[in-house]
Amino acid sequence: MSPSTRCRVAELVLPPVVMTGAGWADYGLVDSGHGRKYERYGPYSFIRPEPQAMWTPRMERWPADGEFVPGSDEDGGGRWAYGSREVPRDGWPLSRGECKFTAQCTPFRHLGFFPDMAPVWDWMAEQFLPGTGRGTSEAGGGAQAGSPNPAGQHLQENPPVPLHHSAALARHAPRSAPPPRAGEEFSSLNLFGYTGVGTQALSAFGPVTHVDASKKSVAQARANAELAGIGTRPVRWIVDDAAKFTAREVRRERRYDGIILDPPKFGRGPEGEVWRLEEHLPRLLADCRQLLDADSRFLFLTVYAVRMSSLALIGLMDEIFRDLPGKLEHGDLAVREEGPDGRLLPTAIFARWSNA
Ligand SMILES: C[S@@+](CC[C@H](N)C(=O)[O-])C[C@H]1O[C@@H](n2cnc3c(N)ncnc32)[C@H](O)[C@@H]1O
Repeated sequence: MSPSTRCRVAELVLPPVVMTGAGWADYGLVDSGHGRKYERYGPYSFIRPEPQAMWTPRMERWPADGEFVPGSDEDGGGRWAYGSREVPRDGWPLSRGECKFTAQCTPFRHLGFFPDMAPVWDWMAEQFLPGTGRGTSEAGGGAQAGSPNPAGQHLQENPPVPLHHSAALARHAPRSAPPPRAGEEFSSLNLFGYTGVGTQALSAFGPVTHVDASKKSVAQARANAELAGIGTRPVRWIVDDAAKFTAREVRRERRYDGIILDPPKFGRGPEGEVWRLEEHLPRLLADCRQLLDADSRFLFLTVYAVRMSSLALIGLMDEIFRDLPGKLEHGDLAVREEGPDGRLLPTAIFARWSNA
């Protein structure tokens, strides 16, 4: 059936949603401004470039253990400059709930995981077992519950979800997909899975297939799972091109309950396969649709560092997912600065289909 003749079942929610991460014991956005941000990662704090923080910092001084000094060329580059305290070059352990992972100053200016994805990990838990994804904070089109903040938005800020869900089984019935049965498992696919924190969160609910082109990232993801003590959970660790692997799964007639994909603007598969977001995303999403059915729970897509609106993502998603039950939403991911009057720092755009 051609996309234009597919009849609409999914509700299309057009007002954008803001999914906000609020920080936790091992991570926080302490301050931001003048094109930079100041974050804590466990016992260490760092300054990194942040062009979207155009406002004025709230603090006078940022006593950091390290700063990423960008290169002069527009394509990135740069180096870490460290303060007087020794920062372990091979990383240090952090956790969020039962997820554990190694933080490390990487040459790519980040710390080896993406803390702004935290509300997504919670949201995914909520789709498998409504009532468990309590760390999610949302405002806008998709807001459902919570108390109004001073700005009048509806927000929910709660602690991270536990990795084991059995106690919460069948407490809340989903609207569209059938309610979970005791002991029911949900299978997930994590494309562009990097160092695997999302995979850890998903593995609490059933088997996960983790795909990334980088052998090193997959090795780190496995090491992180070992660190978390969940190395024996059923995770398939795949080093492959995400688009090629997904097309192969379609040919094998595989089915998943949930899919998350966090593609870069440009990337390469292990055999040099080229990934260009604007060119290859439509086909990849269409293949992902083939791996989901009316009983599946979600697909979550994030896009960052691209000049694009989330309206573009939801326009594409609507074309491909409109014949499924549930709803289609889009918006921004943001991290809230800690302390009173914390501002929202946008980090990525997203589109999502949910059926719970
Ligand atoms: C931003 S990271 C994803 C972050 C991850 N979702 C998380 O929350 O930790 C992008 C990843 O895409 C991978 N990648 C780039 N091109 C790829 C391709 N063609 N196929 C599979 N993975 C690819 C990179 O190795 C990198 O790990």
